[in-house]
Amino acid sequence: MQTVHTIEWMKQIAHEARAEERILGLVPTMGALHEGHFSLIRAAQREGAPVVVSLFVNPKQFGPAEDLNKYPRTLEADRAALEALGVDYLFAPSPQEMYPSGFRTAVVVEGLSDRLEGRSRPGHFRGVTTVVLKLFEIVQPRFAYFGRKDAQQARLIRQMSTDLNLDTNVVVCPIVREADGLALSSRNVYLKGEDRRSAAALSRSLAAVREEIAKGERDANRLLAALRRVLALEPRVALDYAEIVDNERLEPITNLRGTSYVLLAAKVGDTRLIDNALIEPDGEHFKVSV
Ligand code: PAJ
Repeated sequence: MQTVHTIEWMKQIAHEARAEERILGLVPTMGALHEGHFSLIRAAQREGAPVVVSLFVNPKQFGPAEDLNKYPRTLEADRAALEALGVDYLFAPSPQEMYPSGFRTAVVVEGLSDRLEGRSRPGHFRGVTTVVLKLFEIVQPRFAYFGRKDAQQARLIRQMSTDLNLDTNVVVCPIVREADGLALSSRNVYLKGEDRRSAAALSRSLAAVREEIAKGERDANRLLAALRRVLALEPRVALDYAEIVDNERLEPITNLRGTSYVLLAAKVGDTRLIDNALIEPDGEHFKVSV
């Protein structure tokens, strides 16, 4: 595996790959890698193309009161894991390399970026789409892999790719979970003791929605009431939002129809977590993926 720190060198590699008609697959990450990230890397490898993993804790997507400084950084362990997985390139630029002084441009996907996570974290998605467009331009990947764990993020990036006619296909992969259902996240290291146990309630609340749908419930408010009942049993869990939204505009729906998501964010102790379930029509019924 080659570790690349400069944009110029990464662009050179991308340029040579293109000239030889080798298409690159890109997996953007902020490091502190876990099985969720590895699942994206394996999906990229199945495509058969050389894989670039980017590792950049993007300051622009953290709010002033957020955890940029304490965000887990485990570069040496990450590098060893990527090496063992057979990743071809690790692109790990410095903040100064990505945002030299005088940097002024931002990419905003309007509408989709100020709801849900965007409302709780103003400016977050502006930082995400700005860095992801830069990564797409630098690496020029044919495919880029994102997790459904961050469903709103994936929806925005797909919209950006469509709107800006990017040559990168956005691939969205399933959520990888711990045995008790907690979605893997770099931030799970913040969860200690009771908080770690309580955090499993998030996926249980989504499973409760799935059960209600299996019983025939189609009313979004009643489905969300079932979700809230599960979370109410956990005093350490403070719900920020829970919504059932359509896949296209991420607007709340009243009755299940087409493809939709149950999206939720909650604080468990001091740690903010997000989770979701995907609801897809399946003949007369709905298939729910937690
Ligand atoms: P990060 O949180 O490191 O996540 C990198 C990718 O891994 C994202 O696409 C995320 O959805 C995916 N991922 C995280 N946990 C997962 C899980 N449990 N199962 C499946 N996929 C999972 O998301 C970001 O970084 C940043 O916003 C980034 C896109 C890199 C831009 O800075």
